[in-house]
Amino acid sequence: MCGIIGYIGNKTLTPLLITGLKRMEYRGYDSAGLSIFQEGAIKTYKKKGRVADLEAITNEVESTSNVGIAHTRWATHGFPNDINAHPHNTANNTISLVHNGIIENYASIKQKLIQEGYQFISDTDTEVLVVLIERFYNNVNDIENAVRLALNEIRGTFGIALISIYEPDKLIAARRGSPLILGIGEDEYLVASDAAAIIEHTKNVVFLNDDEMAILTKDSFITKTISNVQTNNEIHTLEIELEQIEKGGFEHFMLKEIYEQSTTITDAIRGRLLIDEGNVKLGGLRQVQDKLRNAKRIIITACGTSYNAALVGEYLIEQLAHIPVEVEYASEFRYRSPILYEDDVVFVISQSGETADTLAAVQEAKNRGTTVIGIVNVVGSSIARYTDAGIYIHAGPEIGVASTKAFTSQLTVLTLLALYLGRMKNLSIVEGIKIARELSELPKKVEEILQSTDKIEKIAKEYSSSRNYLYLGRGFNYPVALEGALKLKEISYIHAEGYPAAEMKHGPIALIDENMPVVFIAPKDEIYEKILSNVEEVRARKGKVIAIVTKNDNQMNHLADHVIEISETLPILTPILSVIPLQLLAYFTAKELKRDIDKPRNLAKSVTVE
Ligand code: M6R
Repeated sequence: MCGIIGYIGNKTLTPLLITGLKRMEYRGYDSAGLSIFQEGAIKTYKKKGRVADLEAITNEVESTSNVGIAHTRWATHGFPNDINAHPHNTANNTISLVHNGIIENYASIKQKLIQEGYQFISDTDTEVLVVLIERFYNNVNDIENAVRLALNEIRGTFGIALISIYEPDKLIAARRGSPLILGIGEDEYLVASDAAAIIEHTKNVVFLNDDEMAILTKDSFITKTISNVQTNNEIHTLEIELEQIEKGGFEHFMLKEIYEQSTTITDAIRGRLLIDEGNVKLGGLRQVQDKLRNAKRIIITACGTSYNAALVGEYLIEQLAHIPVEVEYASEFRYRSPILYEDDVVFVISQSGETADTLAAVQEAKNRGTTVIGIVNVVGSSIARYTDAGIYIHAGPEIGVASTKAFTSQLTVLTLLALYLGRMKNLSIVEGIKIARELSELPKKVEEILQSTDKIEKIAKEYSSSRNYLYLGRGFNYPVALEGALKLKEISYIHAEGYPAAEMKHGPIALIDENMPVVFIAPKDEIYEKILSNVEEVRARKGKVIAIVTKNDNQMNHLADHVIEISETLPILTPILSVIPLQLLAYFTAKELKRDIDKPRNLAKSVTVE
């Protein structure tokens, strides 16, 4: 949700800023811009469209100093156009600022500033902040203090970076609620929303905390709270390699990430599965072990794909550990005044670890004294740091806006968690060993699905002109139906609904005719017979049936128009396999429709605003 980068050092500035933006483009991609110094004056270049469009107008541009800022935007306030693109500057170009977040009280501040004679040219909340900083600067004559005073006036979220003609050798950054990382290089410093923009230059980073500022010069950096108390943040070493954030020969990041899944599932399991003991070792949960043992209820909260994973988690934990589980959208949880008891434990799931609604849910639960545990991908992200304990999913950087490998890694970790809790309770060692063994077999079975994608591509092409799709599943595969529908909607823009298969007859059945493809997730399990009846109901209304089935399913072979096979596994593990053909179906449909698969319209990878 907007990517910002700032640099101070000796490298050639414009290409560095452009490359940094390209690496963060999945955060937002409706316009982009940068500000640098030329002959002592701030020069800003910005453009509606992709970073490549900005590159086209800046590739001849040279900076006469070594400090600059840049931004790739996901619009919140004001249309995506050249004027609303960032950086935003004061009227006389004294200060230039990039911002990720939302300033909630911008309208009232803007009103006051207009009454004082200040003028605005954009519709953005960000322009209000830069003008407010200028207003304070006019009183205090010190840029750092002016920033601090302005930030104290605003409500909302921000990750900002700014340069000014007042102190041209300084880059100032600050955050509240939006991510910001400092890169500590040799004679150079960077600030960015995302590690992806930094790792090319340095792996040493400081994760800025909420209400912290960083003041960077070419040879020093200081961090302080916004109320001006110096802070000493630990320097972390990132464990990401450059090739992990590159396409590596694949046409799209999404396809690369789909193909990475047998590796990422292995990574999620590595060092955690104690097959012979039928148990699991989760180091990150050690300090909350007793809390978990005594938990009377678990609440899992998340958004989007992570929410769909949470629903599978509910089935898993209830079945293996017999602990009641409730799953709730983080955006609802935070505003619902949830009733939490002392022996509740809240889990939050987030790929990015930065989703604003999920972060707010963490805060809400923590304010009520509840233990909060994160299941997160991005190491060092806000949710990973603000939760009491956690389990990393170790999926590596996920760049495609449509989440794929993070989902299967979340499911893998949720299975480990359910097994861990189950063995703490009454799950037998025999049952534990069976699950652990089967879990360790999954990467191979994922590989098998990925070896025969031609059939899925053909089906995708055949139905790519459909206006609607229905996805139906039961039990563990009901959340997979939701996830399949979400994938298709996100990247192909075809309307798709996921439903529990048995619910179809209570309404959605009215939609079925010969133009409606219906995807059944129907592996062999205890409710398989029931789903066969649902398939018959669709056929009777001439709907087209695409079924995800266990290998050698002769019954479905006769009923469905198309079958896509997955290997046999335990019913509780089927979601990890059954979702993969659905990811591919969405991918090939979007490809056939020539959609922008890695950067679908209106979306951004990490939603750091409400
Ligand atoms: O980073 P998070 O897991 O917290 O993100 C949650 C959702 O925004 C995310 O899953 C979104 O729904 C994806 N675009 C799904 O593909």
